[in-house]
Amino acid sequence: MRKKIVAGNWKMNTQLSEGIELAQTLNKKLDNSENEEVKVVIAPPFTHLASIKNVIDSKKITLAAQNCATHEKGAYTGEISATMLKNIGVDTVILGHSERRSYYYDTSETLSLKVAQVLANKQEVIFCIGEVLKEREAEKHFEVVKKQLSEVVFKLSEAEFENIILAYEPVWAIGTGKTASPEQAQEIHAYIRGLVAENYSNEIAENTSILYGGSCNPGNAKELFSNKDVDGGLIGGASLKADDFKAIINSF
Ligand code: 13P
Repeated sequence: MRKKIVAGNWKMNTQLSEGIELAQTLNKKLDNSENEEVKVVIAPPFTHLASIKNVIDSKKITLAAQNCATHEKGAYTGEISATMLKNIGVDTVILGHSERRSYYYDTSETLSLKVAQVLANKQEVIFCIGEVLKEREAEKHFEVVKKQLSEVVFKLSEAEFENIILAYEPVWAIGTGKTASPEQAQEIHAYIRGLVAENYSNEIAENTSILYGGSCNPGNAKELFSNKDVDGGLIGGASLKADDFKAIINSF
C-alpha cells in the first residue's frame, strides 16, 4: 500500500539556530507510532541539513533537500550535488517546485538530469507539478500536469518510477491562502493516478503517493486528506510552526 506522507518545505526560511530548534521541537512532539502511519519529511535549507541530521531521529523524520545539481561533481559554481546530499544522509530531494521552475529556470530538460542524479544515488524524489491561475481558468490544468509528468518522470523505467513521490501544487494556491477545494484536489489527483496507471500499471498507480500542496493548514488538512487520492501534503508556511505542522500530521 502507498504511504501517507506529510512533508514540510521550509523554503528559504529560518537561520541555522532557529532551524535546529524547530527540528528538535518537532522531533520531540512525534512518537514512533505516528511515523508508522504517516511518513514525516522536512526540507530545510542546504546550510542546515548536516546539523539537523544530528538532532533528529531518522525513524521519526526523513530529511530532504529542496533542490540538487544537474551533475555529480565538477566546475558548477554554487551547486550542490545529489551525491553530496547522500553523503550527509539526505535520502529525499524535492524537484520541480514551481518557485524553482519560474525563478530559477528549471525546465523539463534540467529536471530530467536532476532526477537522474537523485536516482543514481538511490534517493527518492518528491516531484512537483501544477498549473498557474491562467491555465486553471482556461481549464488547461489537466493538460499542464500531463505535460510536466510526461516530459520527466514518465520517461523513467518502472523500477525507477517506484522512487518517485508526486506533489500536485497548483501555483495559484501557493502562499496565497487560497486552497484548492477538496473536490478540485480529488479530481486532479485521480486524474494523475490514472496517468500513472496508463504509463505503468494499476499496481504502480496504487502504490504512488500523490501529495497536495498549496496553503494547506491545520484548518483544511483533514478535509483535503480525506479524499481517496490525496495521500498527504507538501506544506510550506505551516511547516515553520511545529504545532501547526504536527496538527497537519495528525489530520490523518
Ligand atoms: P504554502 O503551504 O506556504 O502555500 O506553500 C506550499 C508549497 O509551496 C510547498 O512546497
